[in-house]
Amino acid sequence: MYNLTDKQIVLGVTGSIAAYKAPDLASKLTQAGAAVDVVMTESATRFVAPITFQGVTGRRAYHDMWDEASEIAELHVVLARRADLMVIAPATATTIARLAHGLAEDLVSLTALATQAPLLVAPAMDPHMWEHAATQANVATLRSRGVSFVGPEEGRLASGQMGTGRMSEVPVLLGAVRNALGRGGNLTGKKIVVSAGGTREAIDPVRFVGNESSGKMGFAVAEAARDRGAEVVLVSGQTALPDPYGVDVHRVRSATQMRDAVLAACDGAHALIMAAAVADFQPAEPVGEKIKRKGRESLTLHLAPTPDILAEVGRPQGLVKVGFAAESQDLVANAKAKIESKGLDLIVANDITASDAGFSVDTNRVLVIDSKGEQEEWPLMTKYEVAWRILDKVQRLFEA
Ligand SMILES: Cc1cc2nc3c(=O)[nH]c(=O)nc-3n(C[C@H](O)[C@H](O)[C@H](O)COP(=O)(O)O)c2cc1C
Repeated sequence: MYNLTDKQIVLGVTGSIAAYKAPDLASKLTQAGAAVDVVMTESATRFVAPITFQGVTGRRAYHDMWDEASEIAELHVVLARRADLMVIAPATATTIARLAHGLAEDLVSLTALATQAPLLVAPAMDPHMWEHAATQANVATLRSRGVSFVGPEEGRLASGQMGTGRMSEVPVLLGAVRNALGRGGNLTGKKIVVSAGGTREAIDPVRFVGNESSGKMGFAVAEAARDRGAEVVLVSGQTALPDPYGVDVHRVRSATQMRDAVLAACDGAHALIMAAAVADFQPAEPVGEKIKRKGRESLTLHLAPTPDILAEVGRPQGLVKVGFAAESQDLVANAKAKIESKGLDLIVANDITASDAGFSVDTNRVLVIDSKGEQEEWPLMTKYEVAWRILDKVQRLFEA
């Protein structure tokens, strides 16, 4: 799981119906290890009680900037100074206006003005309020000062209206928090292309040759690279996973489409990490109409090789190349052969016969082999941890 230990986050909550989602956000950030200080406007306390935040964060939630009983004398200064990130979710039109005009008249706008930490704002309001020229001008002012926005999204609002104004859901907010905290990380300035998921090779308009890949390993690599500040392009085959926030996602179907998308994405890239399960063979002649059973005793499918993406990419501008090998036998020998044949810097080999590693599960146990033939066997860990350690190695290759 993604780790926010050592991170101090100030969560500002303002007076919108969407405030009901804020305790869940505070809880998820706390579960990820962050120390979360909640500050609320007085209007926000009409929607959610401070005690709810205290319950989920284990820390006092503040709303009164004149609180003489507070153990901290200049609360806003202390919170502002120790924050790694300030998130305002939900942010009302009023609060956005205060931020744009530098007003500091409640604990949320006061802390936002006092902090030098990055500011992430998640607006929530009626579509007409969002589209209003005043709100749009305030948002443009804040963007020009480097404030990041997540959402608002289109959909059904509490009023029953449809339009743009819904606050983003908590998983999206968490992605935006990770993206914001990752800026300036140790892969800043690097463009990393990641492939994920399985490809589907058409037999006819409704049938395909596919595989068991869930896409989890490649998505974990993309998220970990984003969390370290990289610019990430994710070329994804079949998967049920949603687009990771802040990642440029290209969805493809077949090996040929994946080849085209990966080659295009590699322009200007520093590393390519191919975690996708690309078909080795595709039906030689896909049929234009659905194949009928009637009148057939058997059906023979002729397969032809798919493009060899890693070999075709070559090594433009010293591109670092990492491949994955899913093997059910002769793991080491097959992985070493793949390093040679595809010109890789690293290969991450997993034994797909184990039930706690490989396809679909959240954990993996891998063997990592470099181009000199040096091997490391990593213990069972989450795919995110595997991804993080692969990126440690990629970073060392950049430095070399
Ligand atoms: C039931 C109710 C729901 C509201 N929802 C929103 C909202 O989603 N977005 C918004 O910008 N204002 C909303 N408002 C108006 C704000 O609460 C109001 O502008 C308030 O002054 C905002 O103050 P604050 O930014 O200090 O919290 C709502 C008001 C009420 C009574």
